[in-house]
Amino acid sequence: MKRRTLLLALATAGLTGCHSTPPPTPLANLNPEQNRGHQLFETRCAVCHYDRQSGSLHGPSLLGVFKKPALPSGAAATDERVSATILHGRNNMPAMANVVDQDDLNDLLAYLHTL
Ligand code: HEC
Repeated sequence: MKRRTLLLALATAGLTGCHSTPPPTPLANLNPEQNRGHQLFETRCAVCHYDRQSGSLHGPSLLGVFKKPALPSGAAATDERVSATILHGRNNMPAMANVVDQDDLNDLLAYLHTL
Protein backbone atom coordinates (compact mmCIF):
# COMPACT_ATOMS: atom_id res chain seq x y z
CA MET A 1 0.00 0.00 0.00
CA LYS A 2 2.68 2.46 0.99
CA ARG A 3 4.57 1.79 -2.19
CA ARG A 4 1.52 2.44 -4.32
CA THR A 5 0.97 5.74 -2.61
CA LEU A 6 4.55 6.71 -3.33
CA LEU A 7 4.21 5.77 -7.00
CA LEU A 8 1.01 7.77 -7.24
CA ALA A 9 2.73 10.76 -5.67
CA LEU A 10 5.60 10.49 -8.14
CA ALA A 11 3.22 10.19 -11.09
CA THR A 12 1.32 13.26 -9.93
CA ALA A 13 4.55 15.19 -9.49
CA GLY A 14 5.51 14.26 -13.04
CA LEU A 15 2.27 15.58 -14.44
CA THR A 16 2.35 18.82 -12.50
CA GLY A 17 6.13 19.29 -12.74
CA CYS A 18 7.89 22.56 -12.20
CA HIS A 19 7.49 23.66 -15.85
CA SER A 20 3.73 23.45 -15.94
CA THR A 21 1.63 26.61 -15.81
CA PRO A 22 -2.12 26.98 -15.35
CA PRO A 23 -3.98 26.41 -18.64
CA PRO A 24 -5.01 29.37 -20.85
CA THR A 25 -8.40 30.97 -20.29
CA PRO A 26 -10.87 29.29 -22.70
CA LEU A 27 -11.57 31.47 -25.74
CA ALA A 28 -15.28 31.54 -24.87
CA ASN A 29 -14.44 33.24 -21.54
CA LEU A 30 -12.37 36.12 -22.91
CA ASN A 31 -13.57 39.66 -22.19
CA PRO A 32 -13.98 42.07 -25.16
CA GLU A 33 -10.44 43.48 -24.86
CA GLN A 34 -8.87 40.02 -24.65
CA ASN A 35 -11.05 38.90 -27.53
CA ARG A 36 -9.84 41.74 -29.70
CA GLY A 37 -6.29 40.86 -28.67
CA HIS A 38 -6.92 37.29 -29.79
CA GLN A 39 -8.06 38.50 -33.21
CA LEU A 40 -4.95 40.68 -33.49
CA PHE A 41 -2.83 37.73 -32.47
CA GLU A 42 -4.35 35.64 -35.25
CA THR A 43 -3.60 38.40 -37.78
CA ARG A 44 -0.17 39.54 -36.59
CA CYS A 45 1.47 36.77 -34.61
CA ALA A 46 -0.04 33.35 -35.30
CA VAL A 47 1.98 32.92 -38.50
CA CYS A 48 5.09 32.64 -36.31
CA HIS A 49 3.93 31.73 -32.80
CA TYR A 50 1.68 29.12 -31.21
CA ASP A 51 -0.40 30.60 -28.42
CA ARG A 52 -2.37 27.69 -27.00
CA GLN A 53 0.08 24.82 -27.48
CA SER A 54 3.78 24.38 -26.85
CA GLY A 55 6.45 24.00 -29.52
CA SER A 56 8.22 26.41 -31.85
CA LEU A 57 6.87 27.65 -35.14
CA HIS A 58 9.14 30.41 -36.51
CA GLY A 59 9.39 31.79 -32.99
CA PRO A 60 8.86 30.24 -29.54
CA SER A 61 5.39 29.27 -28.26
CA LEU A 62 3.77 32.04 -26.22
CA LEU A 63 1.80 29.56 -24.14
CA GLY A 64 2.00 30.78 -20.52
CA VAL A 65 4.27 33.64 -21.58
CA PHE A 66 3.37 35.84 -18.59
CA LYS A 67 2.98 32.92 -16.18
CA LYS A 68 6.59 31.84 -16.56
CA PRO A 69 9.31 33.71 -14.69
CA ALA A 70 11.19 34.69 -17.85
CA LEU A 71 10.73 35.12 -21.59
CA PRO A 72 12.43 32.59 -23.91
CA SER A 73 15.38 35.01 -24.24
CA GLY A 74 15.74 35.04 -20.45
CA ALA A 75 14.48 38.63 -20.12
CA ALA A 76 11.87 39.34 -17.44
CA ALA A 77 8.32 38.58 -18.58
CA THR A 78 6.95 42.11 -18.20
CA ASP A 79 4.49 44.19 -20.24
CA GLU A 80 7.31 46.63 -21.00
CA ARG A 81 9.61 43.99 -22.37
CA VAL A 82 6.94 42.27 -24.47
CA SER A 83 5.73 45.65 -25.79
CA ALA A 84 9.26 46.53 -26.82
CA THR A 85 9.62 43.16 -28.56
CA ILE A 86 6.42 43.74 -30.52
CA LEU A 87 7.20 47.35 -31.44
CA HIS A 88 10.91 47.03 -32.17
CA GLY A 89 11.33 43.34 -33.06
CA ARG A 90 14.09 41.04 -31.97
CA ASN A 91 16.54 39.07 -34.16
CA ASN A 92 14.26 37.31 -36.71
CA MET A 93 11.10 38.83 -35.29
CA PRO A 94 10.08 41.90 -37.32
CA ALA A 95 9.34 45.28 -35.71
CA MET A 96 5.60 46.04 -35.83
CA ALA A 97 5.43 49.65 -34.65
CA ASN A 98 4.12 50.59 -38.10
CA VAL A 99 1.08 48.28 -37.89
CA VAL A 100 0.35 48.04 -34.14
CA ASP A 101 -0.91 51.15 -32.32
CA GLN A 102 -1.21 51.68 -28.55
CA ASP A 103 -4.77 50.28 -28.40
CA ASP A 104 -3.71 47.19 -30.35
CA LEU A 105 -0.75 46.76 -28.03
CA ASN A 106 -2.96 46.93 -24.92
CA ASP A 107 -5.37 44.38 -26.39
CA LEU A 108 -2.54 42.06 -27.43
CA LEU A 109 -1.04 42.21 -23.94
CA ALA A 110 -4.48 41.55 -22.40
CA TYR A 111 -4.75 38.42 -24.55
CA LEU A 112 -1.19 37.25 -23.90
CA HIS A 113 -1.92 37.44 -20.15
CA THR A 114 -4.70 34.85 -20.59
CA LEU A 115 -2.34 32.25 -22.11
C1 HEC B 1 7.82 36.70 -38.81
C2 HEC B 1 7.69 35.88 -37.61
C3 HEC B 1 7.20 36.53 -36.33
C4 HEC B 1 6.06 37.29 -36.13
C5 HEC B 1 5.02 37.72 -37.15
C6 HEC B 1 6.01 37.55 -34.69
N1 HEC B 1 7.10 37.01 -34.08
FE1 HEC B 1 7.49 37.05 -32.09
N2 HEC B 1 9.28 36.11 -32.41
C7 HEC B 1 9.70 35.63 -33.62
C8 HEC B 1 11.01 35.03 -33.46
C9 HEC B 1 11.84 34.38 -34.54
C10 HEC B 1 11.34 35.17 -32.08
C11 HEC B 1 12.64 34.76 -31.37
C12 HEC B 1 13.55 35.98 -31.34
C13 HEC B 1 14.86 35.65 -30.65
O1 HEC B 1 14.89 35.77 -29.42
O2 HEC B 1 15.81 35.30 -31.35
C14 HEC B 1 10.21 35.85 -31.46
C15 HEC B 1 10.15 36.14 -30.11
C16 HEC B 1 9.03 36.65 -29.47
C17 HEC B 1 8.89 36.81 -28.04
C18 HEC B 1 9.94 36.43 -26.99
C19 HEC B 1 10.91 37.57 -26.78
C20 HEC B 1 11.98 37.20 -25.80
O3 HEC B 1 12.56 38.13 -25.20
O4 HEC B 1 12.26 36.00 -25.62
C21 HEC B 1 7.66 37.35 -27.81
C22 HEC B 1 7.05 37.70 -26.46
C23 HEC B 1 7.03 37.51 -29.11
N3 HEC B 1 7.88 37.08 -30.08
C24 HEC B 1 5.75 38.00 -29.28
C25 HEC B 1 5.17 38.22 -30.52
C26 HEC B 1 3.87 38.81 -30.71
C27 HEC B 1 2.93 39.22 -29.58
C28 HEC B 1 3.65 38.90 -32.05
C29 HEC B 1 2.48 39.53 -32.77
C30 HEC B 1 2.18 40.92 -32.42
C31 HEC B 1 4.83 38.34 -32.70
N4 HEC B 1 5.73 37.94 -31.76
C32 HEC B 1 4.99 38.24 -34.09
C33 HEC B 1 9.04 35.70 -34.82
C34 HEC B 1 7.85 36.38 -35.04
